[in-house]
Amino acid sequence: MIAPHKVEIDQVLVRFGGVVALNAISAAFTAPIGGIIGPNGAGKTTLMNVISGFVTSKGGRVVVDGQDILTHPPHKRAHMGLRRSFQKEQIADDLTVFENVLVQLDHRLGSPAAKRAEAERMLEVVGLSDRADIPGALLSGFERRLTDVARCMVGNPKLIMFDEPAGGLSVEETHALGDLILGIHALTGAQTLVIDHDVELISRVCTETLVLDFGRRIAFGPTAQVLADPKVKAAYLGTEDIA
Ligand SMILES: Nc1ncnc2c1ncn2[C@@H]1O[C@H](COP(=O)(O)OP(=O)(O)OP(=O)(O)O)[C@@H](O)[C@H]1O
Ligand SMILES: [Mg+2]
Repeated sequence: MIAPHKVEIDQVLVRFGGVVALNAISAAFTAPIGGIIGPNGAGKTTLMNVISGFVTSKGGRVVVDGQDILTHPPHKRAHMGLRRSFQKEQIADDLTVFENVLVQLDHRLGSPAAKRAEAERMLEVVGLSDRADIPGALLSGFERRLTDVARCMVGNPKLIMFDEPAGGLSVEETHALGDLILGIHALTGAQTLVIDHDVELISRVCTETLVLDFGRRIAFGPTAQVLADPKVKAAYLGTEDIA
């Protein structure tokens, strides 16, 4: 039985000079997969940065499985099982696909053989087994993305955060990525948060969704309900097509 997870964001506040990037944001994500959407500059990446520890919230809490993580430095959060992918994937060009995944397990317990087996297994899951020995530099955009997903899944993750994972992908690639994200919880037990502008992907994979606009929370709840909210539609007017 996989333990249910909870990420409780409580009164998170971030200012950059005169810009209020996150204005006392609260939302408790309890589904295996949650979404964060909103127009450009809404504060989505900043919220992931607060959770992973790259940006500091002025007050507030982020509670993951009962622990307030905001007092933990980023490396401790990573050790707790927080994983993060960035708008631009962090794949080392001079390492092979296999090595890119294996390095995630460097500071973990376990025998070298067990670590290699786990990296191999996750490459198989994302469909990159036959590309394992290719250097990062030679990968296509989609293969880089898949490598990133494999990196996030190794080492017993608790919370995986993807920042625009479908950026630059075709419709078919986005669908395949959606299938992978849908499988993460059963495979690893981790909860996942996904930021994306692709509303079709969000509505397919995210049970609950937070909508930000200019640093404010304008909706949070079951994804279909949130997407039908007139406030959400208004926030996207002129910037996105939202069905
Ligand atoms: N390090 C920073 N210094 C100053 N301002 C910043 C910084 N990071 C973000 N901002 C500002 O904070 C606001 C929120 O930015 P953020 O990157 O979180 O938006 P986003 O929702 O991820 O947008 P996008 O969809 O374009 O990725 C924007 O006004 C942005 O310019
Ligand atoms: Mg962003």
